Amino acid sequence: MDVQNILVTGGAGYIGSHVLVALIASGYNPLVIDNFTNSSKKSIQNCQKITGKLIEVVEGDVGDVEILENLFTQKNISAVIHLAALKSVNESCVEPLKYFKNNVANTLTLVEAMKRNGVHNLIFSSSAAVYGNASVIPLTENCHTKPTNPYGASKLMCEEILKSLVTTCDGQGSDPWKIVNLRYFNPVGAHESGTIGENPRGAPANLVPYICEVANGHQERLKVYGDDYNTPDGTGLRDYIHIMDLAKGHVSALNWILKLEKNEKCCEVINLGVGRGISVFEMVKRFEAITGINIPLKVTERRPGDVAESYSSAGKAYSLLGWKTEYSLDQMLGSAWLWRSNYPRGYE
Ligand SMILES: NC(=O)c1ccc[n+]([C@@H]2O[C@H](COP(=O)([O-])OP(=O)(O)OC[C@H]3O[C@@H](n4cnc5c(N)ncnc54)[C@H](O)[C@@H]3O)[C@@H](O)[C@H]2O)c1
Repeated sequence: MDVQNILVTGGAGYIGSHVLVALIASGYNPLVIDNFTNSSKKSIQNCQKITGKLIEVVEGDVGDVEILENLFTQKNISAVIHLAALKSVNESCVEPLKYFKNNVANTLTLVEAMKRNGVHNLIFSSSAAVYGNASVIPLTENCHTKPTNPYGASKLMCEEILKSLVTTCDGQGSDPWKIVNLRYFNPVGAHESGTIGENPRGAPANLVPYICEVANGHQERLKVYGDDYNTPDGTGLRDYIHIMDLAKGHVSALNWILKLEKNEKCCEVINLGVGRGISVFEMVKRFEAITGINIPLKVTERRPGDVAESYSSAGKAYSLLGWKTEYSLDQMLGSAWLWRSNYPRGYE
C-alpha cells in the first residue's frame, strides 16, 4: 500500500514536532503547514535529523484558503492532524478575540477546505481546559465541560463545530466524517535525542519548563502557588504525560479512524493522560533526584482559578484505541532537562 500523506497543521510546534517523529516511525508521510508564530524552522530540521526523512513544509497560515486549496488539490491527503492554535491561557484572557479568530475561525476554514476536497478524516487537538473546574475526579470524557477562560472556550467551540459536522451528516456522501477530539492533559518532556522540545517564548507558564529555568539559573526560584490544598502534600495534583506518549496517541487515533469502514461516521472525544495526579512537590523532588540540582522554592498564594487536583481517566483511550502510556515520570523530567541543557534559551 502507498504511504499515506497526513497534513499536520502547527507541525513545527512543541507537540507537532513530536507527532511528526511518531508519524514517520509508523510509516506515514507528514506534510506541515505552519506560520511559525510560536515555533522555529530549526524544529523541522531537527525532526529531519532524527528521522532521516525530508519533511515538506508550507510556511503559511492555516486560515489561508488558497494555501489550503493548493495542498488538498495537489497532495492526496488522507487525513489532517490539526494542532495549529494559540495556547496561552493568560493571553487569551487579555486578547480573547485573537484566540477565537485563530483557534475557532481558522478551524472552520480548514474543515471547509477539507469538505470541498473530500478529506473527512481529522484528529483535533483539544485540551483538558474544556473541563474547567473539575467536579469529579478522575475526569472522564463524559464529565461536564465548562471552560474558565477563552482559550478553553475556543477548544470547546471547535469540538462542538466538529461534532455537528458528524451528527448532521454535513459533507457526507459515500465518505462520511471521521473525527477524534483528543483532550490533552499536561504534556512534558522531550524526544530522547534532546533536540526537539518545548520552546516557550518569555517566562514559562508551565511547571516543568519553569523548573528547568530555575535549574539553569534563568530564574531564581520556583514559585509554588499554594501548599494548603486538600492533597497529600498540600500542593496541586496534575496529570503529566510524556510528549512521546502523547505523540503516539495521535498515531493510535489515526490508525483507528483509517481502519473504520468507509461508510462509518464517528466523532469521538478521548482523553490523553496518564490517569494519575502528581503534586508540585513530587515533581520537584524527582527532578532534584535525577539531575542532582537543587531547586529553591518560594511558596506563594494560590492562583485564582487553580484547582486542587485534575487528572484524567485514561480508560477510553485504551479500550477504543489500544493506547496506553509507556514513559515514566523520570523519563519525562530527564528528557525535559536534556532538551533544556542542549538549548538553554530554546531555539531563540
Ligand atoms: N502544550 C500543551 O500544554 C497543550 C495542552 C493541551 C492542548 N494543547 C493544544 O495542542 C496544540 C499544539 O500545542 P503546542 O504545545 O505544540 O503549541 P505550539 O505553540 O508549540 O505549537 C503550535 C504551532 O501552531 C503554529 N500556529 C499557530 N497558529 C497558526 C496558524 N494560524 N497558522 C499556522 N500555524 C499556526 C505555531 O507557529 C506553532 O508552531 C494546540 O492546539 C494547543 O492548544 C497544548
